[in-house]
Amino acid sequence: MADTINLRELLLFYADSGVDDALMDEAVDRFAAAEPAKASHVETRHSPAAPPVDPQRAAAYANVPASPPRIKASVPDEGKSESARILAREAASLSDLRACLEGFDGCNLKFTAKNLVFGDGNGEADIMFVGEAPGRDEDIEGRPFVGRSGQLLDRMLAAIALDRTSAYITNVIPWRPPGNRTPTPIETEICRPFIERQIELVKPKVLVALGGPSSKILLNTSEGITRLRGSWREHRTATGLAIPTMPLLHPAYLLRNPAHKKLAWHDLLEIKARLKVLTSAA
Ligand code: URA
Repeated sequence: MADTINLRELLLFYADSGVDDALMDEAVDRFAAAEPAKASHVETRHSPAAPPVDPQRAAAYANVPASPPRIKASVPDEGKSESARILAREAASLSDLRACLEGFDGCNLKFTAKNLVFGDGNGEADIMFVGEAPGRDEDIEGRPFVGRSGQLLDRMLAAIALDRTSAYITNVIPWRPPGNRTPTPIETEICRPFIERQIELVKPKVLVALGGPSSKILLNTSEGITRLRGSWREHRTATGLAIPTMPLLHPAYLLRNPAHKKLAWHDLLEIKARLKVLTSAA
């Protein structure tokens, strides 16, 4: 009994510390793991030994299957990017695009994520914020920026008189990378057509790239966020639209480096001013 309690406490401690994927000492070849016997060996995510005590934390485990699912994996290749491009291009609305992502099996991140994390907010907003990829809280809720960095983002929006009814918020990658690892270049390329189409469908007057990875992807640059932030750049859509884009320090970075909030405040004021000019000219 004491062992069960200790084990449960240990698992909850891991989950609270952000360690929510059980990995083996040896790397697992998931493509070779087609038979159920192997699948049970590799899929050991979230298997609490006893029901968690805290209801909020219990909710995080609510969808954990009793027995491990069969591994489904797709080999990333140029064909996946091409089918993503074709599918994304055909989406005529945000709801089409969401449905097409729900049916798209070309990105392996989908198979380790709990939920698709599509955009949130006003799909007709003049301003759109794009982060890199969902984290644990977003994966559980299926909505972008709902964890600690999302709460800070909401406060940053409020500081310039915006909220989720007047802004649209999304990520370059719509599925949580396991353990919050950095998405691979191939995963990013496979997801790129979907974020590009999402931008075309929202057609914001102003785009805000949250953090370095999102800025690099949307601006097609290798420059880092420290150099990029604070000045206007342009995101060019496939249909030739040029959207003024401000790279902004990511809220997660600001939580770790509160002294840099003044830089973000400066950039937020610049965003507010540009938005005012562009919306009053329309
Ligand atoms: N960080 C991101 O970039 N996106 C989210 O949705 C949450 C945290």
